[in-house]
Amino acid sequence: PASPLLAPSLLSADFTRLGEELKVIETSGAQVVHVDVMDGRFVPNITIGLPVVESLRKATTLPLDCHLMIVEPLRYAADFVKAGADWVSVHQEADPHLHRTLAAIRQAGGKAGVVLNPGTPVETLVDLVGDFDFVLLMSVNPGFGGQSFIPRVLDKVKRLDALRTERGVSFFIEVDGGVGMKNAADLVRAGADALVAGNAFFKAEDPKAAAAGLLGEMNK
Ligand code: DX5
Ligand code: ZN
Repeated sequence: PASPLLAPSLLSADFTRLGEELKVIETSGAQVVHVDVMDGRFVPNITIGLPVVESLRKATTLPLDCHLMIVEPLRYAADFVKAGADWVSVHQEADPHLHRTLAAIRQAGGKAGVVLNPGTPVETLVDLVGDFDFVLLMSVNPGFGGQSFIPRVLDKVKRLDALRTERGVSFFIEVDGGVGMKNAADLVRAGADALVAGNAFFKAEDPKAAAAGLLGEMNK
């Protein structure tokens, strides 16, 4: 993307008013909706599934970025595209058949992403370059919103940015977890193209002002 994208995470939204929360995102200037899908097995928490994604699809034209924190992602990845997801990402740690899963997402018409936990090195992706459209780097341990940013992810962003330059490929880099005013500018400078913000957006007194602040940092 030409300018960096902000993706508020619905995990921190009010689930009784999802339609209105989508409007808040749309009017804030944020460009993407991040949807955290958790199965209670890959991560301890259980959140959103296919029927909710179908409903979200009817309520917004913004791209839906579905982050699958589930075991056996191949079973469901294409279904999320069919339900209306534009981007679908699956955890490398959850999938021994990533190449196949990424191909299934693309075949269904989605952008295919690989998610790496904080402890998984970006170098584990070298033999998949070309098979994914984006990488989502976790800057917290997945499972919950509102955790603190793990600063070492900055170095992973830089290494991944170097990898794409080296290979002459154009996947994009997204960062998720503990993103806020203190790290947004550094992340973009390191090479991030999209930032997820849960609490920094929805738990702010004024989410629209928070988005303006974050986008200001991201475009510094
Ligand atoms: C964590 C989720 C994140 C979460 C981010 O498992 O993947 O997307 O919603 O929330 P914050 O920005 O509050 O860390
Ligand atoms: Zn997420």
